Amino acid sequence: MKFLSSSLLLTSVAVVYGGSIPAFIPERTSSLDTPLGISFPALYDLRQPLASSTDTGTGSWWAATYLKSSNNTNYLLISHLMTAPGLIRASLLDLDTLSLYKQFYIPIVNVPAISVGGLLNVSIPTQYGFKAIGSDGLPAFHTWAKDPQFSYNITFQPTSPIIYNAGAGGFLLGLAPTYQYSVPSAFTTGTLQIGDGEELTIDEDNSFTWFDRQWGAGLPLTGNFTWFHAHLGGGVKLSIWAADSEIPYQRTRFATVRRADGALDVRAIEFEPDYSNGGYKSTRLNNVVYATAWTVKFGEEALRIESVRKDQEMVGSVGLVSTYTGYITVKGKFEGDAVDAFGSTEVIDFKNGAMVV
Ligand SMILES: *[C@@H]1O[C@H](CO)[C@@H](O)[C@H](O)[C@H]1NC(C)=O
Ligand SMILES: *[C@@H]1O[C@H](CO)[C@@H](O)[C@H](O)[C@H]1NC(C)=O
Ligand SMILES: *[C@@H]1O[C@H](CO)[C@@H](O)[C@H](O)[C@H]1NC(C)=O
Ligand SMILES: *[C@@H]1O[C@H](CO)[C@@H](O)[C@H](O)[C@H]1NC(C)=O
Repeated sequence: MKFLSSSLLLTSVAVVYGGSIPAFIPERTSSLDTPLGISFPALYDLRQPLASSTDTGTGSWWAATYLKSSNNTNYLLISHLMTAPGLIRASLLDLDTLSLYKQFYIPIVNVPAISVGGLLNVSIPTQYGFKAIGSDGLPAFHTWAKDPQFSYNITFQPTSPIIYNAGAGGFLLGLAPTYQYSVPSAFTTGTLQIGDGEELTIDEDNSFTWFDRQWGAGLPLTGNFTWFHAHLGGGVKLSIWAADSEIPYQRTRFATVRRADGALDVRAIEFEPDYSNGGYKSTRLNNVVYATAWTVKFGEEALRIESVRKDQEMVGSVGLVSTYTGYITVKGKFEGDAVDAFGSTEVIDFKNGAMVV
């Protein structure tokens, strides 16, 4: 009986959700370094951090691809390369049924020669690659993987006005700054294969990638953080941070709002995790329960954010390398408009330490 009722529940959830998958329309802008035709007062040039040789602390290249495949199935595909600790990982969620969820994780002790002429070029033969392609401005990127569970080979172009997080592309997190810029809706092409199934082609008119580059020594190592990104209507993109650190004491809460024309606003927020549904207990980390629903308030207005599937934990070993990372829905009100949007979250809890693999 128990089995019967939970499988019925799963089916009805999938049907309800399946009806509301949005179209993943990429942005197709050409000039990024100078949205609005002026130079943003960022802390770095966009090209500068493309190789990790300049990184102190952690370096992260993170790509979340929202895609429609050639057989009309929608997926969230995440491809992540990180240095210190070195890891490669990926996850795949079928957004139509929410029942197909796969992931793999490969620790890498020494990240192989990462930089060629100042550009990222990582390749672990037969397993994984992430590289920058292009000679000036912000390049395009290739990321690919071959795993028994799923394989992919995607290329995304920098066709989306940049989010310099916190306005200038960096902020204090724990004891040190972190630097972060995001390309929220990059034009994406490529292929995806599940197991040894047919090779699916990405529908380039209905797919895009959020690329996130983050580096630096800043982390709330005595606490945790929750990050969201969201794709609202009218070309509004949100990158939302809540981070708690005990030493030094910090309660970081802000959203960087990017407009269709590239303009940025930084806004204060309030952040409330909602554990009333029990959250999701980490399968790997002791005593870590992730919230899977949250409220983010902008003054009088609130957004209700929910993970669409409880298990979206990308499992590594401890701290930094196990994260709750997955697809979210975002509903409520923002700047007077009703919101029915989507995005992704990443939650990291450092309770059990950070760097030990
Ligand atoms: C990138 O690395 C691969 C192998 O790791 C190498 O074959 C290739 O030539 C490199 N690309 C460039 C542009 O140097
Ligand atoms: C990925 O696709 C590109 C073409 O878009 C191709 O040049 C490259 O060899 C492919 N990589 C792998 C590992 O299949
Ligand atoms: C599309 O192909 C994938 C992989 O073979 C499969 O899992 C999925 O169910 C297919 N979608 C449809 C709508 O048939
Ligand atoms: C950190 O975790 C605690 C529960 O242990 C939670 O109350 C708090 O909201 C979390 N903070 C963030 C920023 O996720």
